[in-house]
Amino acid sequence: MKKTIFNILFIIVLSALFLQPVSAQLKTNAQKADSVLNLMTLDEKIGQINQYNDDWTATGPVTLDPDKVTQVQKGEIGSLLNCVGTERTRHWQLIAMQSRLKIPLLFGQDVVHGYKTTFPVPLAESCSWDMEAIELSARIAATEASAGGIHWTFAPMVDIARDPRWGRVMEGAGEDPYLASKIAYARVKGFQGEKPGEINSVMACAKHFAAYGAAIGGRDYNSVDMSDRLLWETYLPPFKAAVDAGVATFMNSFNDINGVPSTGNKYLQRDILKGKWGFRGFVVSDWGSVGEMINHGNVKNEYEAALCAITAGCDMDMESRCYKNNLAQLVKDVKVPVALIDDAVKRILRKKFELGLFDDPFKYCNPKREQKELNNPEHPIIARDIARKSIVLLKNQDQLLPLSKNIKTIAFIGPLVKAVKQNKGFWDVELPGLDSNFIVSQWEGLKNKVGNRTRLLYAKGCEIEGENKDGFADAVDIAKQADIVILSIGERRDMTGEAKSRSDIGIPGVQEELLKVLLTTGKSVVVLINAGRPLVFNYTADHAQAVLYTWWLGSEAGNAIADVLFGDYNPSAKLSITFPLSVGQIPIYYSHFNTGRPAVSDSNRFYNSSYTDISIWPKFEFGYGLSYTTFRYSNLQLSKRKMKSDDRVEVSVTITNTGHYDGEEIVQLYLRDLVGSIARPVEELKDFRKIKLKAGESQQVKFLIDKEKLSFYNQQLQWVAEPGEFDVMIGASSRDIRLKDRFELVE
Ligand code: NOJ
Repeated sequence: MKKTIFNILFIIVLSALFLQPVSAQLKTNAQKADSVLNLMTLDEKIGQINQYNDDWTATGPVTLDPDKVTQVQKGEIGSLLNCVGTERTRHWQLIAMQSRLKIPLLFGQDVVHGYKTTFPVPLAESCSWDMEAIELSARIAATEASAGGIHWTFAPMVDIARDPRWGRVMEGAGEDPYLASKIAYARVKGFQGEKPGEINSVMACAKHFAAYGAAIGGRDYNSVDMSDRLLWETYLPPFKAAVDAGVATFMNSFNDINGVPSTGNKYLQRDILKGKWGFRGFVVSDWGSVGEMINHGNVKNEYEAALCAITAGCDMDMESRCYKNNLAQLVKDVKVPVALIDDAVKRILRKKFELGLFDDPFKYCNPKREQKELNNPEHPIIARDIARKSIVLLKNQDQLLPLSKNIKTIAFIGPLVKAVKQNKGFWDVELPGLDSNFIVSQWEGLKNKVGNRTRLLYAKGCEIEGENKDGFADAVDIAKQADIVILSIGERRDMTGEAKSRSDIGIPGVQEELLKVLLTTGKSVVVLINAGRPLVFNYTADHAQAVLYTWWLGSEAGNAIADVLFGDYNPSAKLSITFPLSVGQIPIYYSHFNTGRPAVSDSNRFYNSSYTDISIWPKFEFGYGLSYTTFRYSNLQLSKRKMKSDDRVEVSVTITNTGHYDGEEIVQLYLRDLVGSIARPVEELKDFRKIKLKAGESQQVKFLIDKEKLSFYNQQLQWVAEPGEFDVMIGASSRDIRLKDRFELVE
């Protein structure tokens, strides 16, 4: 006993003598990064800002490099992408530990809509307008990915997109800067959790900086030509929201903006991001985009490309090898000051410290945790809920839906009914050794729902693409035997995504013809449309009795769809992007200017900005989506008619569930600045509430309008609210404005 007390006393004295000074020396991550930097040779520094693809899978054009192991051992690689699973990441980290300074590798991965548990593609999820759900899906993706050895996701993509021909429209949150900013914020918070370095968090990456979504003609990687005002007002806000949420990293983009490639764009990366917005994280290039500047034609060779990118503020080179092969020479030639490289290295080291990798390089490589989180039974339950929140009910003639659970026979037809992997959408993560049996197909989902009560008949009918109609007869045959037909059609999952631009965004192949023949049976047809982007499907929209836009909903797709079909979930989603009537209308978005000859009707040539062959109206507008119940909007009240600029107007409105089902409504607040120093959009979303109401229930919804909501970028790019009148519009969609009033902003 005495000995023990003596030992304790001894330890206390020792601690007082030694530990105190040590803890006093505890440094900030920035100081720690500095101390590591001081030990590094120039080659090691250049290695830190160099990122390579692992050999397991590729998400870009591969450069064969048999020598990666030696390069990691020499500290010439700071980060790897497409390296998944604890086994593989441990393997590489062990090699990094053989390097002189033992600086841990950073593992990055496109965890865009889930890791093992797959969630709806981001565009689908954005239609939920449900920030808690969106944050939660990112949280779970982060939990699984971090358990699989990943430190960093290349998500969220926060590019505004108004052109559904562009395949990457599926990765973002649609067309509107207000909604997309809220979603950017929620996704960053979800991925990153409470603070950096939490075991179940990953660093997020706001991409693609900037305006990648505005590629001319919707062709991926194409140029962008854009006014500064549009850039600031529409395309930058979601990036700013990501910074406000504390995003750890940014990725620049493949495109040029007004002739300047984003990768070498100083205005974007140094002036705006690291300057005006004070961003302290690091910027990674997109895959090979440093070297691709040679093709853009603003630099002559890789040497100039490296000079241009590092000078412009691109900290890490993904896969182009331009930094690795040229920066040392550029320093020697006194073209690049070492301080510029030091700054990039420090930004990256800081993140490695924040993640806790210097304390334990294998912190995220625990196979037990990997097993546990990848099989966490909670995750599919949450994925199912978010999936059903993302389904948009576009049409429900004669209240065909929800289906009765007493239906005797259902014919479930179409090329996507029994598809399994398709439901995962484009950016699923290929995990080694994992089969697809955790994905619930639409067929299984329906079977799970109806059990033995209902007879389920199946026919494929046709393929997604191609002209073959041999399967039509079988499909018609089973349709005739059924009480109702459910037809599942759409794109293949890899028809929308990176490098998947399409000029024809109709439903491929003979799928709509299949619908036509099924309708000849006289049976009611519910159509499920599976896609990553808005498609044009006028025949279906006009002739099917009910249409659900089911996107790609992820691993629980089948169960989620069945929940909605049978009313176990009342659809609540609303479109976050305009669905055009015709490709010829693109780009089409709700917050357009009025023009000198306003587009208010389809007639009146000369007096109207319109088409002679098609309507000016979209098929389904931004903010549109039905429910099984109905909502009445009434009693719009403004707290004042005149508002001073330091004041606020309170807007209140009563929403009543007038139908027979409990349901959720997304109440939307739009504003219009009637006269500005420059033209202002006919309406802009400025707030929304998603509320739950029981059948018959009413609720008052309140919004606050302050100066911020009235502000815009004027001609001098100043953020101003100009005195004058504003229309307040409360809508169930951008076209379905139910109530309207006006107030004035006074000096
Ligand atoms: C290219 C894509 O544009 C980008 O979004 C992605 O993160 C990288 N490839 C890495 O896969």
